[in-house]
Amino acid sequence: MYDFSSIINRHGRDSLAVDGLGDGTGFSPAKPREGFDSLPMWVADMGFATAPSVVRAIKQRLDHPIFGYYQPSDAYYQAIIGWQRERNGVQGLEPCHIGYENGVLGGVISALNVLCSKGDNVLVHSPTYVGFTHAVGNNGYNLVHSPLVLDKDGVWRMDYEDMERRIQEHHIHAAIFCSPHNPCGRAWEREEVLRAMDVFQRNSVYVIADEIWSDLLLDKNRHTPTQSVSDWARSHVVAFYAPSKTFNLAGLVGSYHIAYDPWLSDRLAKEGGLSHYNAQNVLSMHALVGAYSDEGQAWTDELCQVLTKNATYAYEHITKSYPGVKTARAQATYVLLLDCEQWCREHDVTNDELVRRGWDVGVTWHDGRLFECPWCVRLNIALPFSQIVDAFDRMDKYVFV
Ligand SMILES: Cc1ncc(COP(=O)(O)O)c(C=O)c1O
Repeated sequence: MYDFSSIINRHGRDSLAVDGLGDGTGFSPAKPREGFDSLPMWVADMGFATAPSVVRAIKQRLDHPIFGYYQPSDAYYQAIIGWQRERNGVQGLEPCHIGYENGVLGGVISALNVLCSKGDNVLVHSPTYVGFTHAVGNNGYNLVHSPLVLDKDGVWRMDYEDMERRIQEHHIHAAIFCSPHNPCGRAWEREEVLRAMDVFQRNSVYVIADEIWSDLLLDKNRHTPTQSVSDWARSHVVAFYAPSKTFNLAGLVGSYHIAYDPWLSDRLAKEGGLSHYNAQNVLSMHALVGAYSDEGQAWTDELCQVLTKNATYAYEHITKSYPGVKTARAQATYVLLLDCEQWCREHDVTNDELVRRGWDVGVTWHDGRLFECPWCVRLNIALPFSQIVDAFDRMDKYVFV
């Protein structure tokens, strides 16, 4: 019903993904060789237009041409409460549990500022989202990585014993729990979340749950809100969400946290407010209300089907055509992690050469080393299906040869 197949030209229209290519020395991939256009498969936004209800909500607000100081509306809070109830089965959520954040990453740092003192160690799983690495390090905390393990069935698993050992060894009292997991694409099951929370509870570890990907579920996978698994989790976990990932609104800015415990909630509001920068924008408030609507739900359901089709095609193509490249069947998110170590060793290709081969032909993927995952590449598949097919054609011809 919605258009997820048109290729929209984003050049010159405020897009890092297409206009932010560099020389490949920093965060952004290099530009392709002459003769190739770029398929933006790196930064985590989508090549799809947002839901019509979002655009409508912004337009309606623009019709009233005064944009002065304001307070978040009741409609804003009710939209979040309704969305969390419908999508995640959340009960008992009230406006006082919800707090605005410009971005999830900024919120994660605010939470660390509340829970830690500088120099503290913080647990996170690896591979890990590059934003955590930069933001947490830049703010004076040390990340301790507990590796996820790809089991014999090709499913990424937490290693609970390793988590507990590292927590105790490094005197850790705060953890970042990415659920669903970027870049591994896991939608953690309830039992897994519960076991992780048991480890944290036993060791007095507060949890910062980054659930920004929780709407983007593939196939029949479900999201388990971390706070829902136990009474302890409800009062010791702060969770972060955003319509920006789901509805492709990163450029509009706007996320939120949920904290049920009054101590946590008060401290977060205080810390987040200190700079006076953490302030909502009226258009992004209306965008959220348009997003978290009945139409937004229908749009998201369709988006998830499109992403499932893309992810399935990618998984089947990789496992059939690139022996030696390992990847898991993604359960959530729109990023895929390809572990190319065996393939590279068998073909005498270096890590740099692998990454460069993709960039040269416009497969602008992300270098896995950014995600604490050498020999890997991360592929954003939130593009029209025809571009996914195009990307794999190029990989067949120029990369995995
Ligand atoms: C796990 C995770 N957290 C946070 C972010 C960034 O969120 P924000 O732009 O709201 O800071 C991303 C973006 O890709 C992400 O993947």
